[in-house]
Amino acid sequence: MSENDSSSSLRSRGIEEVLAARPTIEGAGVHLHRAFGAAEVPRLDPFLLLDDFRSENPAEYVAGFPWHPHRGIETVTYMLDGRVEHEDSLGNKGIIGSGDVQWMTSGSGIIHQEMPKVDRHRMGGFQLWVNLPKTNKMMDPRYQEVKAGQIPEVEPVRGVRMRVVAGNVNGVRGPVQDVVVDPEYLDVRLDPRTDFVYPVKPDHTVFAYLLEGRASFDEEASDPIEDGHLVIFDKGDSVRVKTRDAATRLLLVSGRPLHEPIAWWGPIVMNNRKEIEQAVEEFQNGTFIRRGTRT
Ligand code: CO
Repeated sequence: MSENDSSSSLRSRGIEEVLAARPTIEGAGVHLHRAFGAAEVPRLDPFLLLDDFRSENPAEYVAGFPWHPHRGIETVTYMLDGRVEHEDSLGNKGIIGSGDVQWMTSGSGIIHQEMPKVDRHRMGGFQLWVNLPKTNKMMDPRYQEVKAGQIPEVEPVRGVRMRVVAGNVNGVRGPVQDVVVDPEYLDVRLDPRTDFVYPVKPDHTVFAYLLEGRASFDEEASDPIEDGHLVIFDKGDSVRVKTRDAATRLLLVSGRPLHEPIAWWGPIVMNNRKEIEQAVEEFQNGTFIRRGTRT
């Protein structure tokens, strides 16, 4: 396809795989859709999991995610609608509202809870788990909260608008910075009948998750991919998105793969089983938190 494409000097990535988000129950009984998770490891390296928790039924989300530990990962929560009350062992406490982003580096250990508020029926957003390399798994935990108004929106070409959560688009830097795997996290809206080519780092893993509408991602794709589906791209230095009759919205995310062994136990992701056993033992005997205390 793109080698012969005179409209672009970039080698456009084809589709490696398309996954449908699947219904999953998490936390204390939250019904959500998992775009990918442990079953897909390591295909999305450095990313571990993407949950889509959009819902219009409070019974599906009100149970929330009570106190639980994390070690060895970073989590990014991007809210579209509604509010989630957050509290953690570093002493952070607050509300994540519509359009806000919370970026949490668990490092050596954090204990937190995330409890949705039922003040409107609609609630929703996305949580992405990003792996930490071996050398950073036991780093000090940290927490960044970004308000909706701090996230810049750019229009790289007519008919395409991007909220830049992380990364750099035409010199506009997203507010979430210093994340270890150098991610780009974009919330992209495309008008109908738009053909958009966007450069990505050739060595990065790249995926798109469709939130609304439908789009094709290479020249050959005769059937567009619908919302609720994840597209994993193969190698290349750009991605191509073509919309037809529908306005379309998607998350476009990339990051540097780690190529390290993964040992995964619930909310704790390390490199080997011994490190998992140590984490569980520390959680049970009360020495899990190295820094910060819950008050
Ligand atoms: Co959590």
